[in-house]
Amino acid sequence: MELGTTLTRFIIAQQRKYPGASGDFSGLLAEIATAGKVISHEVNKAGLIDILGYKGKKNIHGEEVQKLDDFTNKVFMKTLSHTGHLAGIASEEMDDIYQIPEEFPRGKYVFLMDPLDGSSNIDVNISVGSIFSIYRRKSSGPLATMADFLQPGRNQVCAGYLIYGSSTMLVYTTGHGVHGFTLDPGIGEFLLSHEAIQIPSQATIYSINESYASEWSDGVQQYIEYAKKGDKTARYVGSLVADFHRNLLKGGIYIYPGDKKNPKGKLRLLYEAAPLAFIAEQAKGRASDGLSSMMDIVPESLHQRVPLVIGSPEDVIQAEKYMSKIDNPS
Ligand code: AHG
Ligand code: MN
Ligand code: MN
Repeated sequence: MELGTTLTRFIIAQQRKYPGASGDFSGLLAEIATAGKVISHEVNKAGLIDILGYKGKKNIHGEEVQKLDDFTNKVFMKTLSHTGHLAGIASEEMDDIYQIPEEFPRGKYVFLMDPLDGSSNIDVNISVGSIFSIYRRKSSGPLATMADFLQPGRNQVCAGYLIYGSSTMLVYTTGHGVHGFTLDPGIGEFLLSHEAIQIPSQATIYSINESYASEWSDGVQQYIEYAKKGDKTARYVGSLVADFHRNLLKGGIYIYPGDKKNPKGKLRLLYEAAPLAFIAEQAKGRASDGLSSMMDIVPESLHQRVPLVIGSPEDVIQAEKYMSKIDNPS
C-alpha cells in the first residue's frame, strides 16, 4: 500500500486480504495505537513534568519502578480494558494476571505487555518502548486463567512494539508480515512508513552488554571473539526495543545470554522475548535461547526469564553453533 496510508485504512485492507485475521484486532490495534499516542506525548516532555525518576517502590523483579513504568502501565490498562476484546491482561509491572472488570464485556484474547522497556534510559533521553503480545484464550469460563497466558510464542495471534525515539513508531505483525507506522504528531495519526519489513539475512552489527563478559559461557565468549575478528561492529543502547528495531531495519544480532550468575539471563519470555521473536520470524529473521526456537518454549511462569539470541538468521545460526557446540556438546 502507498506510504502514508493510515493505520486504520491498512488494517481494513489487511482484513479484506486475510478474512478472520486482522479484523479481530482492528479495535484492539486502534486502542494500542491510542495508548502509544498518549505515552509518546508524555515521554516527549518527560523532562518538563514530574514523571521522571523512581516511584520509590520495587516490582516483582526487585527492580526500582520508574514513575513512567507505572504511568505507561496505567495508560494501557485504561485504554484496553473497555475494548470488549480481552479477558485479561498481564504486565511486567503487575505481579499477577488482571481480570477485565465485569462492567466491561470480556473478549476472547489475552494481552501481555512490557509497558515501558528500557526505562532506565528515560531520564537521559534515549529511546524507550512498549512491547505487547496477544493470544487467543484457551479457557472458556468468565475469568481468564493462567493457562491463557502461559502459551508458547507460536500461538501468538499478534505481537508488536511502540518505540518512542526521534519519532514514535508502531511495528506489529498478525502473522502476515511485519509493518511499521510512524506517528505524525501534527495530525495524531500513525502513517504507514515501513511495509513488509524484512531483516537482512546477515549483517555487521552485534549487540550485547560486554560488561558481563567474564560471566559468559565459553560458547558466548568464543562467538563474540569470532564476531570481533570478522567485520562486525558493536551497537548497544541498553533499550531492547531500540536495539531490536535498529537491527530489524539494518540487520544484526542481539544477544542477552544467560551467564554463570543468571543462567536464564535478564529478559522476560512472555512480554519481551516471545513477541520480538514473532516479529523477527515474520521478518524472515530468527530467535532462540541459543538452543531452541524462542517460539517453541512453553512458559512455566508469568515472569520467567530466558536467554535471547535474535536477529539476522545467518548471524543467529552462527551464534547458536558456538553456544550449542561448546556449551551443550551432545
Ligand atoms: P525494562 O526497562 O523493561 O526492565 O527492560 C530493560 C532491559 C532491556 O530493555 C535492555 O536491553 C536490558 O534491560 C538492558 O540490561 P543491561 O543494563 O543489563 O544491559
Ligand atoms: Mn523490558
Ligand atoms: Mn519494562
